[in-house]
Amino acid sequence: MNNADKIYNLAVSGVQKLIPYTPGKPIEELERELGLSNIIKLASNENPLGPGKKALAAIQATLKDLALYPDGNGFNLKRALADKYAVDMSQITLGNGSNEILELVARAFLTPELEVVFSQHAFAVYPIVTQAVGATAVVAPALDYGHDLGAMLQRVTDKTRLVFIANPNNPTGTLLNHAYLEAFIGALPDTCVCVLDEAYCEFVGDGSADNSIAWLKKYPNLLITRTFSKAYGLAGLRVGYGLSSPQLADILNRVRQPFNNNMLALAAAEAALTDTEHLQNTIAVNAQGMQFITEGFKKLGLEWIPSAGNFVLVDLKQPAMPIYEALLRKGVIVRPVGVYELPNHLRITIGTQAENQLFLQALTEVLSGNV
Ligand SMILES: Cc1ncc(COP(=O)(O)O)c(C=O)c1O
Repeated sequence: MNNADKIYNLAVSGVQKLIPYTPGKPIEELERELGLSNIIKLASNENPLGPGKKALAAIQATLKDLALYPDGNGFNLKRALADKYAVDMSQITLGNGSNEILELVARAFLTPELEVVFSQHAFAVYPIVTQAVGATAVVAPALDYGHDLGAMLQRVTDKTRLVFIANPNNPTGTLLNHAYLEAFIGALPDTCVCVLDEAYCEFVGDGSADNSIAWLKKYPNLLITRTFSKAYGLAGLRVGYGLSSPQLADILNRVRQPFNNNMLALAAAEAALTDTEHLQNTIAVNAQGMQFITEGFKKLGLEWIPSAGNFVLVDLKQPAMPIYEALLRKGVIVRPVGVYELPNHLRITIGTQAENQLFLQALTEVLSGNV
């Protein structure tokens, strides 16, 4: 080991072995690598319609104040969220993306002696935040690609301090029945915090996402996380939030950076909440695109996992990496999911009609050997 490498031994043990999160490939990177233009990116479950007009206007109006620190308490955004969900402002934690909330809860509640339960194929950030603080991840096998709550409950012991559930889950798009989910939360010991990650809840057509808000009254150990990155089209600004008991929010607030949300993000998110037209368009474009893409899979004889999110996992029945790379050469970025133990699948974010068409055309060409 050379002198520079010795620095690794100084990191805390979880971090020494940590494999960082791999994001979707940025368009600019593929442009640089292959000299292509007109690239489409269906790799990070972003909103294909972009941000809404109200969010953009709020950003414009806020630019002149950028020399000032933002409101470290995010009062206006918290008030808007409290009104929307009929909760108290003290129940809200704002994060730099909902990812930050996932990290805050791990930092605030875990030590190396404690365990965290989550499902196989669940969102990749859960093992990362667990390992970073040296806690032990206990992974329950998935059932039909979704969370098997019975298997998860069996793995909860007196050492379990956190449980992560993604509903809908990324990357599988699977959705849990809400009665089943509530029974699970109710069965958890009160020594265990339940994180219900609802990053994609706006895309779930049945309105069941409202149920989880009502559970906050019953379960002081429940933390719901949501985001402005997906349905609200503000992924680049990084705004997410947690809804919980005031006590749990108070704990998260103690480990939060004082100005974790920038001023443009706070203003845009508040405005985005009032832009129901943009949200409805987003949901409609997603539903149409989901139908179009899955019909395309059917024509190609491919199977997919029915998804409640703004993305879909397709089963190629062969190693997905060569297909992913062939799609890249055609200027189409999708997401390989080998890190999720799904080496034969690709995850496709639903795009605009034009993007979906280009993707299906490229996939058809690649699968027919025209690469
Ligand atoms: C299930 C799930 N949770 C949380 C996030 C975090 O999103 P953000 O930090 O942009 O809110 C993502 C992003 O892909 C996700 O898929």
